[in-house]
Amino acid sequence: MNPIRRLLLMQSVSMGSFLMLSEKSLAQEKSSKSSEAFRLVSIGGALTEMIYLLDSSKALVGVDTTSQYPDAVKKLPNVGYARSLSSEGILALKPTQVIAIEDAGPPVVLRQIANAGIPLTVLQSNLRFDGVLDRINKIGGLIDKAQGAKELIQNLNLEWTKTQKQLAAIQLKKTDVLFILSQNPTQVMVSGTKTSADAMISYAGANNAISGFSGYKPLTPEAMIAANPDVILMTDQGIEALGGMDGVLRFPGINKTTAGKQKKIISLEAMYMLGFGPRMPLAVRELNRLLAQTVSSS
Ligand code: HEM
Repeated sequence: MNPIRRLLLMQSVSMGSFLMLSEKSLAQEKSSKSSEAFRLVSIGGALTEMIYLLDSSKALVGVDTTSQYPDAVKKLPNVGYARSLSSEGILALKPTQVIAIEDAGPPVVLRQIANAGIPLTVLQSNLRFDGVLDRINKIGGLIDKAQGAKELIQNLNLEWTKTQKQLAAIQLKKTDVLFILSQNPTQVMVSGTKTSADAMISYAGANNAISGFSGYKPLTPEAMIAANPDVILMTDQGIEALGGMDGVLRFPGINKTTAGKQKKIISLEAMYMLGFGPRMPLAVRELNRLLAQTVSSS
């Protein structure tokens, strides 16, 4: 099946119709420059989703491990985790352009890529809806899909209006949410301010239960008890890494919090919830609804 059709079909099934680009505008851009003219390495799942939606998946020659959506990108050569890259794998793919999120690193690897003469564009995180649009616009410019980017932005603005309507309709009473990020049982961290998790909690109408620091810190039982969250939010991957819900509930101190006592522990898939990619308006709606259901259940 033609890749545009396949993507549109997939999006219409799994993401709703809002992200569909008209085949006309894509076809027009195809004639301006073929995607094969590029060899893109995308570092950051949200950026990979944008490139995919702009019909440039054929131009992708490599992605990082946070690029997990749509499924098709998992088949591409993988250059490792965005925050701990090595240059060899990236350079071996002979990219004509590397596009990376702001958190990509370490910096020495980014310098090696640039020193090798590979055009490298690092897109600012900007954890706002506007930031999502800005990144789509910049990627559209970089890969000759300006018209597609314009159309995607229009669709996302419509989606955002829907999200605003839902947020006005489903208002949470004051709800303290603690976000826990874990990759394995020995690395369990909690989110302060200025993280994707913090931004999503506030977009969804709740409060971050921890505001005394920015970024991530190891989670201690004392911090958990002091924060006393109403709800604990995690990623699906994080719950799995801790051995499922039973493993989460065994974390010291959790049984002394309101969330732990009432087993109000919820999760969404990591990049969907925290990626600030094209599915962000949808993720805000889902988190808002999930929080509202969790708070109101007894
Ligand atoms: C090798 C395994 C991994 C390790 C060691 C790891 C480690 C980390 C660390 C230390 C942070 C916090 C960075 C900071 O202090 O700001 C972080 C953030 C993050 N990681 Fe990973 N990670 C891993 C794999 C993944 C994977 C596979 C995904 C996606 C599916 C992912 C998604 C994220 C996201 C979205 C954030 C940002 C959270 C936010 O800003 O709220 N990580 N990771």
